[in-house]
Amino acid sequence: MRKIVVAITGASGSIYARLLLDKLAALRGQWESVAVVMSDNAKEVWQTELGNTAWSNHGFPFFSPRDFMAPFASGSGKYDTMIIIPCSMGTLGRIATGVSSDLITRAADVILKERRKLICVVRDTPYNLMHIRNMETVTLAGGIICPATPSFYSLPKTIDEVAATVVDRVIDLAGLKIDTFRWGTTE
Ligand SMILES: Cc1cc2nc3c(=O)[nH]c(=O)nc-3n(C[C@H](O)[C@H](O)[C@H](O)COP(=O)(O)O)c2cc1C
Repeated sequence: MRKIVVAITGASGSIYARLLLDKLAALRGQWESVAVVMSDNAKEVWQTELGNTAWSNHGFPFFSPRDFMAPFASGSGKYDTMIIIPCSMGTLGRIATGVSSDLITRAADVILKERRKLICVVRDTPYNLMHIRNMETVTLAGGIICPATPSFYSLPKTIDEVAATVVDRVIDLAGLKIDTFRWGTTE
C-alpha cells in the first residue's frame, strides 16, 4: 500500500491540486496514506484562482510547512511518492540547490535521497535559464519533471477536463490505476 505526500505551492494552477485531491479521495482503496502540505503562497493563489478556501475538505491530514515533525520529513516515515502540484519555480530552485528550509523542500530532499519517486508539476511560462537548469538538476537527481501542460487530443470540453489531462498523467506516473482517456483505444 502506498504512502503519498501531496505538496501544493504558489504557482498558478490550483485547479490541478484540487483535482488531484478529488481523484486521490476517489482512489482510496489504492493507498495507505495521503498527507498534504501547502505553502502560504499556495493558499493565496488557491483563493485567487478558485475563490474558496476548501483545500482541506478531503479529510487528508494537513501539515504546516513549518512542521518538521511530519512523518515524511524523515526517510524512516517510508513515504514512497511525493507530488508537488503545482510546483513553483521558487520551490523547484530550492529543491535543486538542496535548500531544505521548510517541510516541502525537506520532504523532497528526503524522497530524492531515499531514491523514491518525486513528481514536480512545474508551472511558469516562459522559462529562464535557471528554471531549465533546475529542472535538469532535479531530473539528474532522479525526480520527474511533469510540466503543467495540458493536451487536447482527448477533446476536453470543460476546464476540469483540460486540467485532468495533466492530473491523470500525474496519477499514472505515481503508479495508481485510473480510468482515463488513452490514445489508441476505441472506448
Ligand atoms: C496569482 C499568482 C500566480 C503565480 N503563478 C506562478 C507561476 O505560475 N509559477 C511560479 O513559479 N510562480 C508563480 N507565482 C509566484 C509564486 O507564488 C512566488 O514565487 C512564491 O514565492 C512561491 O512560493 P512557494 O514556492 O513557497 O509556494 C504566482 C503568484 C501569484 C500571486
